[in-house]
Amino acid sequence: MKLFLDTAIYEEIEQAVRWGVIDGVTTNPTLIAKAGHDHEEQVKRICGIVGNVSAEVVSEKSDDMIVEGRRIASWHANVIVKVPLTTEGLAAGKVLAGEGVRVNVTLCFSVNQALLAAAIGAYIVSPFAGRLDDINEDGMALVGDIVAAYRQQEIKTKVLAASIRNPMHVTQAALAGADIATMPFAVLTQMFNHPLTEAGQKRFLEDYRRTQEAKPLAAKR
Ligand code: E4P
Repeated sequence: MKLFLDTAIYEEIEQAVRWGVIDGVTTNPTLIAKAGHDHEEQVKRICGIVGNVSAEVVSEKSDDMIVEGRRIASWHANVIVKVPLTTEGLAAGKVLAGEGVRVNVTLCFSVNQALLAAAIGAYIVSPFAGRLDDINEDGMALVGDIVAAYRQQEIKTKVLAASIRNPMHVTQAALAGADIATMPFAVLTQMFNHPLTEAGQKRFLEDYRRTQEAKPLAAKR
Protein backbone atom coordinates (compact mmCIF):
# COMPACT_ATOMS: atom_id res chain seq x y z
CA MET A 1 0.00 0.00 0.00
CA LYS A 2 1.38 3.39 -1.04
CA LEU A 3 1.29 6.22 1.48
CA PHE A 4 0.03 9.64 0.35
CA LEU A 5 -0.18 12.88 2.32
CA ASP A 6 -3.58 14.56 2.51
CA THR A 7 -2.47 18.18 2.61
CA ALA A 8 -1.61 21.16 0.44
CA ILE A 9 0.93 22.54 2.93
CA TYR A 10 4.24 22.51 1.07
CA GLU A 11 6.46 22.32 4.15
CA GLU A 12 4.69 19.15 5.36
CA ILE A 13 5.08 17.50 1.96
CA GLU A 14 8.73 18.55 1.74
CA GLN A 15 9.42 16.96 5.14
CA ALA A 16 7.67 13.69 4.25
CA VAL A 17 9.50 13.53 0.91
CA ARG A 18 12.77 13.97 2.79
CA TRP A 19 11.80 11.01 4.99
CA GLY A 20 11.33 9.03 1.78
CA VAL A 21 8.02 7.48 2.73
CA ILE A 22 5.37 9.09 0.52
CA ASP A 23 4.43 8.42 -3.10
CA GLY A 24 1.86 11.13 -3.61
CA VAL A 25 -0.38 13.86 -2.29
CA THR A 26 -4.12 14.44 -2.27
CA THR A 27 -5.55 17.92 -2.11
CA ASN A 28 -9.11 19.17 -2.09
CA PRO A 29 -10.63 22.68 -2.11
CA THR A 30 -10.72 22.74 1.72
CA LEU A 31 -7.03 21.78 1.98
CA ILE A 32 -6.10 24.35 -0.69
CA ALA A 33 -7.99 27.01 1.28
CA LYS A 34 -6.14 25.96 4.44
CA ALA A 35 -2.75 26.22 2.70
CA GLY A 36 -3.67 29.77 1.67
CA HIS A 37 -1.98 29.89 -1.74
CA ASP A 38 -3.14 30.14 -5.33
CA HIS A 39 -4.41 26.69 -6.44
CA GLU A 40 -2.38 26.40 -9.65
CA GLU A 41 0.77 27.78 -8.12
CA GLN A 42 0.57 25.46 -5.12
CA VAL A 43 -0.20 22.31 -7.12
CA LYS A 44 2.69 23.01 -9.51
CA ARG A 45 5.01 23.57 -6.55
CA ILE A 46 3.94 20.27 -4.96
CA CYS A 47 4.33 18.44 -8.29
CA GLY A 48 7.92 19.66 -8.36
CA ILE A 49 8.83 17.41 -5.44
CA VAL A 50 6.44 14.44 -5.56
CA GLY A 51 4.49 12.41 -8.13
CA ASN A 52 0.77 11.55 -8.08
CA VAL A 53 -0.75 14.85 -6.95
CA SER A 54 -4.55 14.92 -6.92
CA ALA A 55 -6.08 18.32 -7.66
CA GLU A 56 -9.84 18.77 -7.63
CA VAL A 57 -12.18 20.50 -10.07
CA VAL A 58 -14.63 23.00 -8.58
CA SER A 59 -17.03 23.48 -11.51
CA GLU A 60 -20.55 22.12 -11.15
CA LYS A 61 -21.53 21.16 -14.71
CA SER A 62 -19.76 18.39 -16.55
CA ASP A 63 -18.85 20.56 -19.58
CA ASP A 64 -17.18 23.07 -17.27
CA MET A 65 -15.49 20.28 -15.30
CA ILE A 66 -14.05 18.90 -18.55
CA VAL A 67 -12.54 22.25 -19.47
CA GLU A 68 -11.27 22.75 -15.92
CA GLY A 69 -9.96 19.18 -15.71
CA ARG A 70 -8.01 19.58 -18.95
CA ARG A 71 -6.53 22.82 -17.63
CA ILE A 72 -5.54 21.21 -14.29
CA ALA A 73 -4.06 18.19 -16.11
CA SER A 74 -1.94 20.55 -18.21
CA TRP A 75 -0.29 22.02 -15.11
CA HIS A 76 2.07 19.08 -14.65
CA ALA A 77 2.52 15.44 -15.70
CA ASN A 78 2.25 14.40 -12.03
CA VAL A 79 -1.32 15.72 -11.71
CA ILE A 80 -4.29 13.42 -11.17
CA VAL A 81 -7.61 15.21 -11.73
CA LYS A 82 -10.17 14.75 -8.99
CA VAL A 83 -13.87 14.78 -9.84
CA PRO A 84 -16.76 14.30 -7.41
CA LEU A 85 -18.89 11.17 -7.43
CA THR A 86 -21.93 12.90 -8.93
CA THR A 87 -23.57 12.37 -12.31
CA GLU A 88 -21.87 15.52 -13.59
CA GLY A 89 -18.53 14.53 -12.08
CA LEU A 90 -18.61 11.05 -13.55
CA ALA A 91 -19.66 12.29 -17.00
CA ALA A 92 -16.69 14.67 -16.95
CA GLY A 93 -14.39 11.98 -15.56
CA LYS A 94 -15.35 9.65 -18.41
CA VAL A 95 -14.32 12.21 -21.04
CA LEU A 96 -11.11 13.11 -19.21
CA ALA A 97 -10.16 9.45 -18.67
CA GLY A 98 -10.86 8.82 -22.38
CA GLU A 99 -8.34 11.54 -23.19
CA GLY A 100 -5.70 9.79 -21.09
CA VAL A 101 -6.02 11.99 -17.98
CA ARG A 102 -5.61 10.09 -14.71
CA VAL A 103 -8.88 10.61 -12.83
CA ASN A 104 -9.49 10.26 -9.09
CA VAL A 105 -13.19 9.94 -8.25
CA THR A 106 -13.66 11.45 -4.82
CA LEU A 107 -16.40 11.47 -2.17
CA CYS A 108 -17.18 7.75 -2.51
CA PHE A 109 -19.33 6.29 0.27
CA SER A 110 -20.61 2.96 -1.12
CA VAL A 111 -19.60 -0.07 -3.17
CA ASN A 112 -22.13 0.88 -5.85
CA GLN A 113 -20.56 4.32 -6.18
CA ALA A 114 -17.16 2.64 -6.48
CA LEU A 115 -18.53 0.46 -9.32
CA LEU A 116 -19.69 3.63 -11.10
CA ALA A 117 -16.23 5.15 -10.72
CA ALA A 118 -14.70 2.02 -12.22
CA ALA A 119 -17.24 2.10 -15.07
CA ILE A 120 -15.97 5.49 -16.28
CA GLY A 121 -12.37 4.26 -16.25
CA ALA A 122 -11.22 6.07 -13.11
CA TYR A 123 -7.58 5.60 -12.20
CA ILE A 124 -8.42 5.96 -8.50
CA VAL A 125 -11.56 5.81 -6.37
CA SER A 126 -11.48 7.50 -2.96
CA PRO A 127 -13.75 6.06 -0.26
CA PHE A 128 -13.85 8.47 2.70
CA ALA A 129 -13.52 6.17 5.72
CA GLY A 130 -13.37 8.76 8.51
CA ARG A 131 -16.48 10.61 7.39
CA LEU A 132 -18.42 7.32 7.52
CA ASP A 133 -17.09 6.62 11.01
CA ASP A 134 -18.30 10.12 11.94
CA ILE A 135 -21.88 9.07 11.20
CA ASN A 136 -21.55 5.78 13.06
CA GLU A 137 -20.84 3.64 9.98
CA ASP A 138 -17.78 1.46 9.43
CA GLY A 139 -15.55 3.31 6.98
CA MET A 140 -12.82 0.70 6.80
CA ALA A 141 -15.38 -2.05 6.18
CA LEU A 142 -16.38 -0.09 3.07
CA VAL A 143 -12.74 0.08 1.94
CA GLY A 144 -12.50 -3.72 2.36
CA ASP A 145 -15.78 -4.27 0.50
CA ILE A 146 -14.67 -2.14 -2.45
CA VAL A 147 -11.34 -3.99 -2.62
CA ALA A 148 -13.20 -7.34 -2.55
CA ALA A 149 -15.69 -6.27 -5.24
CA TYR A 150 -12.92 -4.92 -7.49
CA ARG A 151 -10.89 -8.14 -7.09
CA GLN A 152 -13.95 -10.25 -7.82
CA GLN A 153 -14.68 -8.22 -10.95
CA GLU A 154 -11.02 -7.85 -11.97
CA ILE A 155 -11.34 -4.06 -11.90
CA LYS A 156 -8.06 -2.18 -12.19
CA THR A 157 -9.14 1.13 -10.58
CA LYS A 158 -6.99 1.75 -7.51
CA VAL A 159 -8.67 1.97 -4.11
CA LEU A 160 -7.43 4.96 -2.13
CA ALA A 161 -8.51 4.96 1.53
CA ALA A 162 -9.23 8.62 2.27
CA SER A 163 -10.43 10.63 5.25
CA ILE A 164 -7.96 8.81 7.47
CA ARG A 165 -8.11 10.09 11.02
CA ASN A 166 -5.59 8.01 13.02
CA PRO A 167 -2.74 5.49 12.67
CA MET A 168 -5.08 2.56 13.28
CA HIS A 169 -6.98 3.58 10.14
CA VAL A 170 -3.75 3.18 8.17
CA THR A 171 -3.19 -0.35 9.49
CA GLN A 172 -6.82 -1.22 8.78
CA ALA A 173 -6.59 0.16 5.24
CA ALA A 174 -3.51 -1.97 4.56
CA LEU A 175 -5.19 -5.09 5.97
CA ALA A 176 -8.30 -4.32 3.90
CA GLY A 177 -6.12 -4.39 0.76
CA ALA A 178 -6.25 -0.70 -0.17
CA ASP A 179 -3.76 0.31 -2.88
CA ILE A 180 -3.16 3.71 -1.30
CA ALA A 181 -3.94 5.45 1.99
CA THR A 182 -3.88 9.23 2.19
CA MET A 183 -3.44 10.82 5.58
CA PRO A 184 -2.84 14.13 7.33
CA PHE A 185 0.77 14.93 8.24
CA ALA A 186 0.02 14.36 11.95
CA VAL A 187 -1.06 10.77 11.27
CA LEU A 188 2.05 10.11 9.17
CA THR A 189 4.28 11.28 12.01
CA GLN A 190 2.35 9.10 14.49
CA MET A 191 3.13 6.07 12.32
CA PHE A 192 6.82 6.34 13.21
CA ASN A 193 6.23 6.21 16.93
CA HIS A 194 6.67 3.20 19.17
CA PRO A 195 7.89 3.44 22.78
CA LEU A 196 10.06 0.34 22.36
CA THR A 197 11.84 1.84 19.33
CA GLU A 198 12.54 5.00 21.28
CA ALA A 199 13.72 3.14 24.40
CA GLY A 200 15.76 0.63 22.36
CA GLN A 201 17.58 3.30 20.39
CA LYS A 202 18.30 5.31 23.57
CA ARG A 203 19.80 2.21 25.17
CA PHE A 204 21.93 1.33 22.12
CA LEU A 205 23.45 4.79 22.05
CA GLU A 206 24.06 4.87 25.82
CA ASP A 207 25.79 1.46 25.76
CA TYR A 208 27.93 2.40 22.81
CA ARG A 209 29.01 5.72 24.32
CA ARG A 210 29.73 4.06 27.69
CA THR A 211 32.17 1.52 26.24
CA GLN A 212 33.59 2.97 23.02
CA GLU A 213 35.89 5.84 22.31
CA ALA A 214 34.22 9.06 21.24
CA LYS A 215 34.15 9.28 17.45
CA PRO A 216 33.77 12.48 15.44
CA LEU A 217 30.07 12.91 14.59
CA ALA A 218 30.64 14.29 11.12
CA ALA A 219 33.53 14.25 8.69
CA LYS A 220 35.67 17.36 8.95
CA ARG A 221 35.48 19.60 5.90
C1 E4P B 1 -9.11 12.78 0.07
O1 E4P B 1 -8.65 12.86 -1.04
C2 E4P B 1 -9.65 13.89 0.86
O2 E4P B 1 -8.87 15.03 0.63
C3 E4P B 1 -9.61 13.66 2.35
O3 E4P B 1 -9.08 12.42 2.70
C4 E4P B 1 -10.80 14.12 3.10
O4 E4P B 1 -10.61 13.87 4.47
P1 E4P B 1 -11.45 14.56 5.63
O5 E4P B 1 -12.70 13.79 5.83
O6 E4P B 1 -10.55 14.46 6.83
O7 E4P B 1 -11.70 15.97 5.19
